[in-house]
Amino acid sequence: MVTEVPGPKARALLEKKFEHVPRGPFNTVQTFVTKAEGALVTDVDGNTFIDFAGAIGTLNVGHRPKGVTDALHQQIDQYLHTCFHVMMYEPYIQLAEKLNEITPGEHKKKTFFLSSGAEAVENAVKIARKYTGRKGIISFERGFHGRTFMSMSLTSKVKPYKYEFGPFAPETYKWPYPYYFHTKLKPRELDDSLLKQFHTFFLSEVPPEEIAAIIMEPVQGEGGFVIPSPYFVQQVKEICEKYNILFIADEIQTGFGRTGKMFAIEHFGVVPDIITMSKSLGAGLPISAVTAKADIIDAPNPGEIGGTYGGSPLGCVAALEVIDFIQEKNLLNRSVEIGNAFKKRFEALQEQCEQIGEVRQLGAMCAIEFIKDPITKEPNKELVADILEKVQQKGLIVMSAGLFGNIIRLLTPLVITDEQLKEGFEVLAEAILECCRN
Ligand SMILES: Cc1ncc(COP(=O)(O)O)c(C=O)c1O
Repeated sequence: MVTEVPGPKARALLEKKFEHVPRGPFNTVQTFVTKAEGALVTDVDGNTFIDFAGAIGTLNVGHRPKGVTDALHQQIDQYLHTCFHVMMYEPYIQLAEKLNEITPGEHKKKTFFLSSGAEAVENAVKIARKYTGRKGIISFERGFHGRTFMSMSLTSKVKPYKYEFGPFAPETYKWPYPYYFHTKLKPRELDDSLLKQFHTFFLSEVPPEEIAAIIMEPVQGEGGFVIPSPYFVQQVKEICEKYNILFIADEIQTGFGRTGKMFAIEHFGVVPDIITMSKSLGAGLPISAVTAKADIIDAPNPGEIGGTYGGSPLGCVAALEVIDFIQEKNLLNRSVEIGNAFKKRFEALQEQCEQIGEVRQLGAMCAIEFIKDPITKEPNKELVADILEKVQQKGLIVMSAGLFGNIIRLLTPLVITDEQLKEGFEVLAEAILECCRN
């Protein structure tokens, strides 16, 4: 399926790219797409790839599902943009109503829209501050919330996200997030020791009455698909309730079926006060959402939140189709199936390859963590880089994650066929074995 990456046409475009585009925006695959469908992507040189990255978790419904493209064509023929702040349009209201219905919690909710994940995070923080009258925001170590100033301040990876970009937003604090693979403690012991630190934090750093919100990814995305225990998440929520701190679930990477539930937080038995969503909500259209308890999200006055493109008509009609598609095609079950197949395949491989430290997944949020040896568990970034290079030449798009870049993460479209999944797994498994033996 793949002859050479980059091929001749891609090399010509790369030259132009180096000339006209700065180095800052990174690229995983050194070629250029011409067509994509389902879980397959074809490049300018006719190479076809199986997509295990899904535009970093943006394409749970796959590339160009027909319902979405039909709705977009229809919308293009009616109107493109009036800006919701100038003249309103119905799809915005329909989508808000839909998200209020499907997000966790029986309470009255309201929703508004933006264009990117980082913007949703920015606005969640603004709303939390306005509602509580407090300034402090707590996020978690290894967390990722975006590249704008507040979201970057809440992010916890220095290179490449924060290096030499400070000063960062004041009144932001980091709490440790459990990482059971990297402790000698039992999960409950680790959870309890972290929770104890949180209580000390309120004595040593800042009182709880000054904290507006705690923002948490229910499963860490960029941080390496790290999965906390329900007990830990529930205890954090309990701290929030005790001190009237708002709990923000950042579902930007975990949402819309990725973990086998519509929202990952549903695995943990916690109802958040505010939810941020983006990525797979729009099937590739730039749209994000903030849903919250009605009284909380109504705290800002007219004009205090919003934006020219927030909740564009195209984004809204795409998102409405996405939600129907997930439900109609039963993609939550498919997500679980993909996760189970992954676990079976790569746990078997772990027995042949001691550099595989851990295979973990929640639904189709799947990761393999690579280490140098099983005793020290030292991260093996170089091995992951080799594997990624090798699979690309064999027609598979995969990305890394983690503070040390030593984790391979799978965010494949949930519409991937069994054959494509099997083929992708084989390419990945072969590359892992080859690189581990070298
Ligand atoms: C959990 C989480 N929050 C926020 C963001 C930022 O989203 P965007 O890149 O659309 O600004 C991301 C992006 O990867 C994310 O994974």
